[in-house]
Amino acid sequence: MTQPAQTADQPGDALVIFGITGDLAKVMTFRSLYRLEQRGLLTCPIIGVAVEDWTVEQLADRARTSIVATGELLDEAVFSRLAERLSYVQGDLTDEGTYARIAHALGAAVLPVFYLEIPPFLFGTVVAGLAQAGLTTVARVVVEKPFGHDLASSTALAEQLHAHLDESQLYRIDHYLGKMGLEEILYLRFANTMLEPIWNRNYVECVQITLAEEFGVATRGHFYDPVGALRDVVVNHLFQLLAAATMEAPAHGDPESLRAAQTEALRAISEASPDHYVRGQYDGYGSIDGVAAGSTTETYCAVRLEIENWRWSGVPIIIRTGKCLPVTQTELRLVFKQSPRLGFGLRRPDSEPDQLVVKLDPNTGVRLVLQAQRADAPTPEAIKLDMEFASQGGEGPTPYEVLLHAALQGRRIRFAPQATVDQAWRIVQPLLDRPGPVHPYEPGSWGPAAADALVADVGGWRGPWI
Ligand code: BG6
Repeated sequence: MTQPAQTADQPGDALVIFGITGDLAKVMTFRSLYRLEQRGLLTCPIIGVAVEDWTVEQLADRARTSIVATGELLDEAVFSRLAERLSYVQGDLTDEGTYARIAHALGAAVLPVFYLEIPPFLFGTVVAGLAQAGLTTVARVVVEKPFGHDLASSTALAEQLHAHLDESQLYRIDHYLGKMGLEEILYLRFANTMLEPIWNRNYVECVQITLAEEFGVATRGHFYDPVGALRDVVVNHLFQLLAAATMEAPAHGDPESLRAAQTEALRAISEASPDHYVRGQYDGYGSIDGVAAGSTTETYCAVRLEIENWRWSGVPIIIRTGKCLPVTQTELRLVFKQSPRLGFGLRRPDSEPDQLVVKLDPNTGVRLVLQAQRADAPTPEAIKLDMEFASQGGEGPTPYEVLLHAALQGRRIRFAPQATVDQAWRIVQPLLDRPGPVHPYEPGSWGPAAADALVADVGGWRGPWI
């Protein structure tokens, strides 16, 4: 595909949502649109597309009940502004008449944003339908994960999309790219001269990333069982976090420079070794609706990676995630090397090393663990300097608000380019090829004991900070 005319800094003038009658719209999209409306950030019409035979009134009703169900206090004036933007196109996605009706509904819009909240196997059909109707010349197309289930299928999906769209028109959603905590990591690293010089192998003993969830797979068995923890959150969300934590500072502030720096960070990671990969499945998972009999899908996984560049060579990068763990918390933790004890017992032999923690979810904060002399202890001990972002400027917008707004504004920095997706699959492909056994673990535990071996030489698992 040839590069479309430069539209990156122009706001979209219509938002077309495929799959507006589905679950994602119910739990995320309507609420995000409502909040954007409330903040005065919506300026264009919204056209819903789905196969159901709905009227626009039914769509507005669904929007209202969905927003209320998320716990949002509905302001009628805001909602009626949102409802006035809505229109609805009913149609089968394989029928070219559907795309003609979308073209008609778009009217004079010249920069539509198509948001595909539909299963990925339909992406190719929709994009081809839009292209045949002449709607893709300058359009933006926003797609939801998964972007393939391994390296080969991800490349095949990209080829399907690139047949009709330039890469610059594609906005791949990874909701971690809308999280305040992830952005915060970049500011901490590159806006603070006291942090950047120590953010490397000379000072850092290991990097630990944890995405712990107290809840299980619940009603998502049909979705989750063919996917598992590695594909569900590691290859996408946690690799975005890893890239932000390990990348070099981009030379320029434009989206392409930043995205190239993130891709380069992943490119420096060696292919994961199945010997440094542990999978677990919580007891009771097998009886969930939608889970195959005898399923060996992992609901927990831990992997130890290596980065082959000057900044990180030799520093273990350890990632773990799991469902039915004791807490819900996502964090990035840098564990620093121990200081020398020196002759006069500068620190206790068993003291905690210095650490820097950024927590991302369910709330955002920064913690420093340092050594200090306390009045109640004979030798210096670890103390914690904590800062919750909610107490410094309040909670930011939710990831989907950030991302929908960014798509409308053409801010590609918030979306995953194919190059990082390719790198992520390259890294985990050996784990998909040779996944190894799945170890059972008790719900409410920290996963299988086998995973402890991955961190035995760096003082064990640390955190998360709740
Ligand atoms: C989703 C996964 O993409 O991310 C879920 O499908 C997971 O299984 C969720 O729970 C985690 O995101 P967050 O924002 O809650 O940390």
